[in-house]
Amino acid sequence: MESVVYGQQDHSFKTAGGFEGIRQLVDDFYTAMDTLPQAKHIRDMHSPNLEESRDKLTRFLTGWLGGPKLFSEKYGPIRIPVAHRHLSIGPAERDAWLACMQVAVNKQPYPQDFRDYLMTQLYVPAERSRNKD
Ligand code: HEM
Repeated sequence: MESVVYGQQDHSFKTAGGFEGIRQLVDDFYTAMDTLPQAKHIRDMHSPNLEESRDKLTRFLTGWLGGPKLFSEKYGPIRIPVAHRHLSIGPAERDAWLACMQVAVNKQPYPQDFRDYLMTQLYVPAERSRNKD
């Protein structure tokens, strides 16, 4: 059997359950952000209604994981550091964001090696969003 390499083609997108799977991941991510005490500060950076944030992150992750480029189709081009430069993001905010993602990733029916892969990969844009020490 051919082994699946997550970073290639749309393997990650498919392993994440396609658009519906990523939508569920993002729903669980924002639920975690509403719940985790260490995430209160980054939750307060968002608007009270998270509908647009959910749509944007779902579409972004779809393309980022090798699926269709749904973010740029609807919202135009994006560069992650630029998209966050109006926010004050240090190591604590980065780690709170990743903690919410870890909770959400653990809830999905993903193979453990894909969970680990995803968290390692997500560290990269999270660190690139950081704009203070
Ligand atoms: C490092 C910690 C992070 C924090 C605290 C954070 C926080 C935020 C906030 C508050 C917004 C809404 C901005 C606004 O409209 O005022 C936002 C937008 C966004 N974030 Fe993050 N974010 C982080 C990391 C990430 C990462 C790692 C990704 C992708 C993997 C990401 C993807 C996005 C996208 C796609 C948007 C929408 C941008 C737009 O409006 O065009 N964020 N983020």
